[in-house]
Amino acid sequence: MRRPIIAGNWKMFKTIAETRQFFDALIPAIQDVEHCDIVVAPPFTALAAAAEEADGTRVSISAQDVYWEPQGAFTGEIAVRMLVDAGCAFTIIGHSERRQYFGEIDQTVEKKTRASIKGGLDAIVCVGESLAERDAGSAISIVRGQVQNGLAGFSESELSHISVAYEPVWAIGTGRTATPEIAESMHAEIRKTILEIYGEKISAAMRILYGGSVKPDNIKALMACENIDGALVGGASLEPASFPSIIKYR
Ligand code: PGA
Repeated sequence: MRRPIIAGNWKMFKTIAETRQFFDALIPAIQDVEHCDIVVAPPFTALAAAAEEADGTRVSISAQDVYWEPQGAFTGEIAVRMLVDAGCAFTIIGHSERRQYFGEIDQTVEKKTRASIKGGLDAIVCVGESLAERDAGSAISIVRGQVQNGLAGFSESELSHISVAYEPVWAIGTGRTATPEIAESMHAEIRKTILEIYGEKISAAMRILYGGSVKPDNIKALMACENIDGALVGGASLEPASFPSIIKYR
């Protein structure tokens, strides 16, 4: 019942020209894909060009972050309505790199998510534990806390515009993917946490993506897991050869 979603997070890669080139290769390669939603998240400067390239195709465009105020004196920040204006349908929120390097916390994740949905963007809300937290045996409590604090107090209709991405920090950009078993058990834990907050119907409908060194050769095993509904792909989404083969995992 949950429609899979494959999202590419380009992080701080690609100029406008490189973005256009990538779409020239991507669009014909995914022409016949019907089994999943496809999302690409370029850097802010390339969003409008990406939206233009994706217009009329199966690809939706996402930002990588957003600010919660509608406008104002917030130097360097981007508002939801600006992203919508640039052609975005989604935004990523709370990516572990934002949490690690830029002071993102659960409370700002919650504010950004609320503002995004109110302004017409779907949110991909990221959670995940660090290596030290996993080694200390606290992975589950860390991730449960991120879900409880970042995703509390939303209405049923708001929640239909939210997906969760589980991205263990130790698996991001390291080539060290969580095994399908590790990923699946945390996804089940996240779904259980959502069930405790919102009940059966919402928890059964919530899409939970896995992220962290997803590649063409591991996507199939991950997608075969009951509670894994998609992937948030970093490095392998930059290549016009690997991203379509991840999208076509079936
Ligand atoms: P990676 O990044 O696929 O390069 O590990 C995933 C992410 O950070 O979203």
